Amino acid sequence: MTEVDFREDGAAALEWAARYLERVEQLPVLAQVRPGEVSERLPRSAPERPEPFADVLRDLDELLLPALTNWQHPRFFSYFAVTASEPGILAELIAATLNQVAIVWRASPASTELELRVVDWVRQLLGLPDGWHGHIEDTASTSTLAALIAARHVTGRNVVVCSEHAHSSVEKDARMLGMEVRKAPADQELRMRVEGYDLDDVAAVVATVGTTSFTSVDPVRELAERAHAAGTWLHVDAAYAGTWLHVDAAYAGTSWICEEERWSADGVELADSLTVNPHKWMLVPMDCSLVWTARPDEWREAFSLVPEYLRTSDDAYALSEYGPALGRRFRSFKLWAVLRCYGAERLRAIVREHIRLAELFTGWVEESDEWELVAPQRFSLVCFRRVGTDEENERLLERVNASGEIFINHTKLDGSYVLRLAIGNVRTTEVDVRRAWEVLNEEARR
Ligand SMILES: Cc1ncc(COP(=O)(O)O)c(C=O)c1O
Repeated sequence: MTEVDFREDGAAALEWAARYLERVEQLPVLAQVRPGEVSERLPRSAPERPEPFADVLRDLDELLLPALTNWQHPRFFSYFAVTASEPGILAELIAATLNQVAIVWRASPASTELELRVVDWVRQLLGLPDGWHGHIEDTASTSTLAALIAARHVTGRNVVVCSEHAHSSVEKDARMLGMEVRKAPADQELRMRVEGYDLDDVAAVVATVGTTSFTSVDPVRELAERAHAAGTWLHVDAAYAGTWLHVDAAYAGTSWICEEERWSADGVELADSLTVNPHKWMLVPMDCSLVWTARPDEWREAFSLVPEYLRTSDDAYALSEYGPALGRRFRSFKLWAVLRCYGAERLRAIVREHIRLAELFTGWVEESDEWELVAPQRFSLVCFRRVGTDEENERLLERVNASGEIFINHTKLDGSYVLRLAIGNVRTTEVDVRRAWEVLNEEARR
């Protein structure tokens, strides 16, 4: 006896998934539960006896669905809005079915070689330099962690410099590695400034293209030139002297698929490493973070540790020698499926539409005396606030999110409260963005 009737239960699961995507728009965007409510309803221990898969689906509906924040909702405008597209979802099912654990090449030649190829497809689509080596990590946090490990290995130094607006993962990664973080101040346009900074003892400079709070763009070319002019490699075989430059383009990097958005890629060809997350704006389900390096040999040296039981006579390539994890999921399969089923043209059209919608919203904010733009609008994010106090804006945010109609979030700039509206779901249309504007105005006047 098997635990499920794979065909019948599988069909029910697929039907559940299809129905969810059809009706997600009718569900509240933000989960309307209080902390602990789900835990109270979940059994305290695992069942002794088998239960039917149908019961799992029933409890998904009854217990979990009301406690889901619906990231696939077209009016999810929080953090960076994302999409798990249908080709990606189906590919996840197949990847789980195949359960490839690509520890070394022979453990999954297909997964190893497909990963290299599709990551290279994305490199080409984004206009990144030939010859870069890329692979997939789970998240940008891990990609940046790996970059800092490589930087420290190569330079023998222990300091990381990033902008005050860099993502918290940079600081967390450095902290986990026992590295010191120095935060550089930003200019009026929220771009990292480096003048006056001595980089001689610095292992890595992390530049961000599309900061999380404001989508500002650090001056990558200038940072690269300064980094590479600083200090000397300790590594004996190193080709040049300098500090490692890592670029975090986790969200905004996807926009480079459109030629007209490549203004923000200026200088990235000088980077030592770069990360972009297809699970943010390239329609790939969590998790899929790409990291490339211009220095594959040094990078590999930082990670390669092959125990006896993994040594093979074919001496083929192992992606586990390029990152922290040994076991690797077949993540390239969903990226492959998304790239093939959408095609670059359609992906470009989606990115352009999201940017257009953000520009439209920005226009409404600018035309109104009751609202103000807080930072220049870049990519598909709008940072704005209601003219008034921080407390009024904070209460407004709580009310619009409690409505269940839209979900936005906040950040702070120089201590003052900022509302963020991020567009990134493939289902989001102009109607949804107009509705967001109406909800904000209705709640503000209430
Ligand atoms: C610019 C930037 N870098 C890194 C991250 C961390 O991403 P992940 O969740 O993949 O670790 C984020 C998350 O939003 C981000 O916006």
